[in-house]
Amino acid sequence: MTQNGPLGFATRQIHAGAELDDSHRPRATPIYLTAGFVFDDFEQANERFVQSDDGYSYTRVGNPTNTAVERRIADLEGGIGALLVGSGQAAVSTAVLALAGAGDHLVSAASIYEGSRELFRDNFARLGITTSFVTEANDPASWEAAIRPETRALFAESIPNPKNDVLDIRAVAEVARRHGLPLIIDNTLATPYLLRPIEHGADIVVHSASKFLAGHGTVLGGVIVDAGRIDWSAAPDRYPHLAQNVGSDGRTFAERSGRAAFLAYARSVIALRQGPSPSPFNAFFILQGIETLSLRVQRHSESARRIAAWLEAHPAVESVDYSGLASSPYHALAQQYLPRGQGSVFAFTLRGGRDAAKTFTDSLHLFTRMTHLGDVRSLVLHPASTTHVNRTEDERVAAGVGQGLLRVSIGLEDADDLIADLDHALAAVQAAELLERAGIV
Ligand SMILES: Cc1ncc(COP(=O)(O)O)c(C=O)c1O
Repeated sequence: MTQNGPLGFATRQIHAGAELDDSHRPRATPIYLTAGFVFDDFEQANERFVQSDDGYSYTRVGNPTNTAVERRIADLEGGIGALLVGSGQAAVSTAVLALAGAGDHLVSAASIYEGSRELFRDNFARLGITTSFVTEANDPASWEAAIRPETRALFAESIPNPKNDVLDIRAVAEVARRHGLPLIIDNTLATPYLLRPIEHGADIVVHSASKFLAGHGTVLGGVIVDAGRIDWSAAPDRYPHLAQNVGSDGRTFAERSGRAAFLAYARSVIALRQGPSPSPFNAFFILQGIETLSLRVQRHSESARRIAAWLEAHPAVESVDYSGLASSPYHALAQQYLPRGQGSVFAFTLRGGRDAAKTFTDSLHLFTRMTHLGDVRSLVLHPASTTHVNRTEDERVAAGVGQGLLRVSIGLEDADDLIADLDHALAAVQAAELLERAGIV
């Protein structure tokens, strides 16, 4: 792309990364559905295996369609590069495994997507990587206190799922910087349109591209973006796989790739060997989704704010966790970090507990009961009986996930129609409660 000055977000979401070396000159990025790529000769095959960054060899480690997505997301997030993988969980796993091994330690915010929490608490623990969870994620002293000599990374979500309890990224990034540790931010719910964590000091950004980036509830994907800020050779004992171990060319990853060493290792060691690679077919849909990201996220956020305010005024609703509302303890942070909108995913609690939540979800017509978010369609989920079902009641209460709590992901339907659907489901809850109080059921 040629330019005289910086291009706007909407321009870049359509054009960034789309320049491919293709003699047919297609305007849209084609789906390169091929497992491997031809080596011109013996020498070239050898070059591609000696840590060369030029050219493609096998789709598990790189593919032109996937590259276009990687470049576009890296551009939108303001990183030096990105790695596309098969799902958001694969992005979190790959990012962590490119930094930590047995005996190492992570510090994570406690308020994160339940799948990531279980990955840290269970899967990584079985591999010898332990995690301390910080409950007060906006208190730098809590992060400080949890860091140990074996700590290799800090992890948090910019807009945590499901409670919209916005993170003070700068405060956590300062702690990370003081200790020379990378801060990984899961930016799935915010998207780079609403918030770019790298601008606030994050070192690595991960996404579930299955959500707003793809945007239509069709394909899964995940991405890791590297800010390229960390000098990995500054602490060689901490990251020996990047700064001490030499490859077949006699150099370490830090010597070969400099500030991009983490991303190079994630791609050519973790993704290559563990195989979380995405299909170029899915990559195409993610690329297409990103082309309308700003328009969708604007509308998602506007409708979510309207619906959250409407719910807050309803007598059957006890509370609404949405940082776009003045009543939210995260409202000031949202104004600082999310001035363009506070996203589409939030939670609210019904006064009537689990019975009310059941009547409510079963009475909805337009909202889809589904464990997903960032879809064009509006979705609803009862975390206590689904995503958080394996937690004890005490743990759920500590996480603020009560039996009356519902998570919604507001889609792109007309907000009036969504409010009418919620209105009628809440009326069903009130009718059921009246009947119960009268002893009729
Ligand atoms: C914040 C966040 N991160 C990661 C994931 C996992 O993404 P995926 O379903 O693409 O594996 C999710 C899924 O809901 C999520 O909400």
